[in-house]
Amino acid sequence: MTDLTDIPGPATPAEPVTFPQDRTCPYHPPTGYAPLRDGRALSRATLFDGREVWMVTGHSAARALLADPRLSTDRRRPDFPAPTARFAAVRDRRVALLGADDPEHQTQRRMMIPSFTVKRATGLRPRIQEIVDGLLDAMIAQGPPAELVSAFALPVPSMVICELLGVPYADHEFFEAQSRTLLRGPTAADTQAARDRLEAYISDLVDRKAGGTEPGDGVVDELVHHQLREGTLDRDQLVSLAVILLVAGHETTANMISLGTYTLLQHPDRLAELRADPELLPAAVEELMRMLSIADGLLRVALEDIEVDGTTIRAGEGVLFATSVINRDASVYEEPDALDWHRPARHHVAFGFGIHQCLGQNLARAELEIALGALFTRLPGLRLAAPAQEIPFKPGDTIQGMLELPVTW
Ligand code: HEM
Repeated sequence: MTDLTDIPGPATPAEPVTFPQDRTCPYHPPTGYAPLRDGRALSRATLFDGREVWMVTGHSAARALLADPRLSTDRRRPDFPAPTARFAAVRDRRVALLGADDPEHQTQRRMMIPSFTVKRATGLRPRIQEIVDGLLDAMIAQGPPAELVSAFALPVPSMVICELLGVPYADHEFFEAQSRTLLRGPTAADTQAARDRLEAYISDLVDRKAGGTEPGDGVVDELVHHQLREGTLDRDQLVSLAVILLVAGHETTANMISLGTYTLLQHPDRLAELRADPELLPAAVEELMRMLSIADGLLRVALEDIEVDGTTIRAGEGVLFATSVINRDASVYEEPDALDWHRPARHHVAFGFGIHQCLGQNLARAELEIALGALFTRLPGLRLAAPAQEIPFKPGDTIQGMLELPVTW
């Protein structure tokens, strides 16, 4: 077991901050988290329902705790923290992978790994490039200007995940709308209804695949024809797994493409450097992942007492990981607020860490490199089509990204 007692930083928790908070600038952490950025490992946060939880803000504590089996991700537990009323409304059902602890988690993860290896992502690159080129062709033919989220940032990962899973892209308007509602409301009842509709949709797809009326060779087909038939996965688990892959597979990457584009356009010197040397793209993607930390607030509950630097997290207490703060820990990243891909950005926790570390990270990296690389190569004059401060971005209670991104070239 990891020894957490030698983690540096002030031990006394600051006054609780409210979590989540909206960002003031879409690529910087909320200014309200600034008091937590003094090297402390743990702070306190108050959630929407008044509950206080631990907020992990130090980098080494975060990595130790994210790898600690004494923290659970099972959101059906009554003591599991809910950051929003929306989240509370959909925690009644078991969530595959992300909401499962070992050993159930390990069984599911092992099933999925072959579809998400670096090799598999590399094999998908030519097809991702085709998808990206096709979307840029269409955007260029129609524009300028364009709204980049709907014309490019969303369809790229949405088309890619559909092909990988064997979900018909023809249904994209339906499942994109449900995913949006699942992650952003507006009300808890809407969120619940969206979850139910997504599950019903996938359940129907599973029936069609099992009955042979929807042939395909995607991940869902593989699960239906092997794991389900062999009994290694039950039907509820399969549906939950497919829903999470579909939602996580397009919403997150879409936000990284839109917010990554906005951030690069706000850093013209960096962008010029990247354009001059495309070899920098992988490092740039990693640094953007660190800096943007779009999944801010990973949730856990303690199953046992855990000592962290003289402070005890008690069994039953909620723990959340503020990735936007952790990824700017000044003891790990020099000038953490600067966009600088010459630093080693590795070891960031923007994809999580430990057993739940993002399953789709190899795919996401490939998509981001290809999408951002092609966008800035094909459109050398790309710029914002509205004043930067007026472009709307997502509120703090969901995955971060741009709501719209008007561009011209
Ligand atoms: C840049 C885009 C992405 C970001 C920022 C991201 C972020 C994350 C994070 C932070 C976690 C860990 C959550 C936790 O520990 O509570 C995670 C897990 C996960 N992600 Fe991603 N993700 C991205 C893309 C993808 C893609 C393309 C897929 C494709 C299917 C995917 C599928 C998953 C799954 C299934 C898990 C749960 C893994 C497990 O519990 O074993 N993600 N992701």
